Amino acid sequence: MANKISRAVIKRLPKYHRYLKELIDRDIKRISSKELSEIMGFTASQIRQDFNNFGGFGQQGYGYNVDDLFEQIGRILGLVSQYKTIIIGAGNLGQALANYSSFEKFNFSLQAMFDLNPRLIGLNFRGVEVLDVANIEDYLADHKIDIAYICTNKEAAQGVADRLVDSGVKALWNFAPVDLKLPADVIVENVHLIEDLFTISYFIKGAKK
Ligand code: NAI
Repeated sequence: MANKISRAVIKRLPKYHRYLKELIDRDIKRISSKELSEIMGFTASQIRQDFNNFGGFGQQGYGYNVDDLFEQIGRILGLVSQYKTIIIGAGNLGQALANYSSFEKFNFSLQAMFDLNPRLIGLNFRGVEVLDVANIEDYLADHKIDIAYICTNKEAAQGVADRLVDSGVKALWNFAPVDLKLPADVIVENVHLIEDLFTISYFIKGAKK
């Protein structure tokens, strides 16, 4: 089913998931598409269209059952599975990601970190050890890893990605500011934080003299 759904819709699902969790925390049991549109900033028709991709979910005159919708969107997003992850590059960003415990709450479980710097190898962050990247192929032969987070400097990122892919890793979360060249069956999500800052600077540039 998922491959028929447009990427734009898929990209909106995490936001629905986040808002629905907030409603659950406030003990709200049901919500109309109009109310959901008011808190989320999407139009009610956009919301109905999005949910129609998955067979609707709502009932005429009742709206949406918040618990059900949350669970179903979680299921569509694949959040019911456990994902094993690794971090390559245990510098500032790699350590920050390793120290962020909320990924585990959503079943993304960090198994190991890798670096080439001898001063980092052997350290551990929240119980996760930094291993020598020289041995990553052996590690991946023994451990099935679902997602690798690339947190190396940009010059190293493509080489690291190639090694991961050659060892069977099928999904990458890339923080290095480089567009990786990868086989078509590898999923990659890029987080280029500086591009968001550039967007902000575009919008405020008129006010800056
Ligand atoms: P960093 O220099 O602190 O960490 C990079 C780490 O990668 C180092 O520990 C280095 O030894 C390791 N490394 C280099 N080549 C490697 C290889 N072949 N295999 C394994 N490890 C290798 O840099 P930082 O600040 O953590 O940034 C990492 C990446 O994230 C960079 O590409 C940076 O542009 C990007 N980034 C960082 C942000 C931040 O807030 N720190 C924000 C946005 C992007």
